[in-house]
Amino acid sequence: MLLYDNRIIEREQARIDVEDRAYQFGDGVYEVIRVYGGQPFHLKEHLDRFQRSAREVRLSLPYPLEQLEEHLFELMRRTGLQEGNLYLQVSRGTAPRTHAFPAQARPLIIAYTQPSARPLKEQNQGICAVTTEDIRWLRCDIKSLNLLGAVLAKQKAADQGCQEAILIRDGIVTEGSSTNIFIVKDGTVWTHPADHLILHGITRDITLQLAAVLQISARTEAFDSAALFDADECFMTSTTMEICPIIKVDGQTIGTGSPGPVTRRLQEAFQKLIS
Ligand code: PDD
Repeated sequence: MLLYDNRIIEREQARIDVEDRAYQFGDGVYEVIRVYGGQPFHLKEHLDRFQRSAREVRLSLPYPLEQLEEHLFELMRRTGLQEGNLYLQVSRGTAPRTHAFPAQARPLIIAYTQPSARPLKEQNQGICAVTTEDIRWLRCDIKSLNLLGAVLAKQKAADQGCQEAILIRDGIVTEGSSTNIFIVKDGTVWTHPADHLILHGITRDITLQLAAVLQISARTEAFDSAALFDADECFMTSTTMEICPIIKVDGQTIGTGSPGPVTRRLQEAFQKLIS
């Protein structure tokens, strides 16, 4: 079952034209929303970001967000999703192939559910990462369907037996290929500012709010790769990974080489939000 435009249909009945602009140009935007106990987590923030991403690429959604929200609830109900992800995208639609916007094309919304367990092993033990140059475009604040930069980075990590690639632009740590990156130094949490060089992660925001509640000082300021290797702790955040420690980068141990106390406190506070 999936949401196709404004209808819920069987996946086998969904038809994507070869000239769908998402297929040919990556011309569209998307969201990934986590579902806990049948309830979408921070749905409003995801829908607002979806609308903003669409607006930034001058794509008007085919119907209002309120209607989309209703369709998503209906989809979750019909698929019986309890624990997993809700994937949502909009393409600029189907039209004869030419780069500029088609005069007449109805944007196509698609959403489907994927049951999946929380990555508890990774969260408990920590993961390893590699660094790689951030070769993406300069509007990483838009959750665009153009994901080749992320795909290549993640594959570099996978080739080295690691789970994430940390992207470095002009010596600065921007974010992960599909996560935001934080370090902890002398009790202070650091993460890149929410500008055009990173996705404004919803989990990043939640983590900063939790830090404030826990009276952990936090700075949304750029830091370089030397600071990453010199950090006491490092962790990544995302909808699917939540808060996950990074214990090794490029084969080098970060801090003690096991998940650190500040990361643990934030993870525990996050856990309370979802249980
Ligand atoms: N990734 N940075 C990038 C480049 C991302 O693609 C994501 C999300 C994040 C974290 O954002 P959030 O906390 O809002 O999920 C940061 C999603 C989960 C994905 O592509 O699967």
